Amino acid sequence: MNILITGANRGIGLGFTRHYLEQGHEVWACYRSDPGALGEIDSPHLHSVVWDVSSDAQPVGELPEQIDLLINNAGIYGPVKDGQSLEKVSSDVMLDVFNVDCVGPLRVVQALKERVIAVQGVIANVSSKMGSSADNGSGGTYACRAAKAGLVIVSKSMAVDLEPFGVQVITLHPGWVRTDMVNHTGLIDVPTSVAGMAQVITDARKYSGGQFIAFDGKVVPY
Ligand SMILES: NC(=O)c1ccc[n+]([C@@H]2O[C@H](COP(=O)([O-])OP(=O)(O)OC[C@H]3O[C@@H](n4cnc5c(N)ncnc54)[C@H](OP(=O)(O)O)[C@@H]3O)[C@@H](O)[C@H]2O)c1
Repeated sequence: MNILITGANRGIGLGFTRHYLEQGHEVWACYRSDPGALGEIDSPHLHSVVWDVSSDAQPVGELPEQIDLLINNAGIYGPVKDGQSLEKVSSDVMLDVFNVDCVGPLRVVQALKERVIAVQGVIANVSSKMGSSADNGSGGTYACRAAKAGLVIVSKSMAVDLEPFGVQVITLHPGWVRTDMVNHTGLIDVPTSVAGMAQVITDARKYSGGQFIAFDGKVVPY
């Protein structure tokens, strides 16, 4: 398969890249500016693309003509501690996180959808339970919650719009994963999260379009 992954230089995106390379696929690993650990991977099946999903600028690097699997993984959390509290969260923070986590995947799909349609591929949008109203018992974290909730809805619209073309779109929750984003405090490691989400992706057509699925295959109410 031809697989394109955003935010692939560290964390879960890097884990996806390693996972699919080990399985013998061609991987287009996109990174914002610093290739990071991608530089340590010696594989003829790895293709690098510079892509900052926060802007409309074109990606730099050769893209595949056909994409069997597109994973919108790139994301930011925004300020930690009480930086996203009702008292402190700012307009700039709200808009910055929304721009990367919700508009970013939309930009990427707008740019690549014809290549996914060409092979009736799968699009997986990495959201978070933080974007689930049903799961929100603790409030706060306005920017992250709003952006990830926005992505759930954007992903559902993509699923409806692309279904007639044979493209399956699903929304993923990776679990609470030990990466930089959570200061390595998570409950599971990257390989566990990635293996689980990869299985969900394999089973993508068993779910309804735009369905929100966790790494363990459980449906996330939203
Ligand atoms: N870890 C968790 O527990 C958890 C839970 C729920 C959801 N998620 C979601 O899972 C995804 C991956 O998170 P992670 O835990 O792997 O986080 P991470 O370790 O902080 O990695 C985030 C990745 O996104 C990239 N990125 C950020 N802004 C970007 C931009 N404007 N353009 C392109 N790439 C950009 C980063 O690139 P740079 O190195 O250039 O910054 C990095 O590769 C995110 O969407 C996150 O919201 C994670």
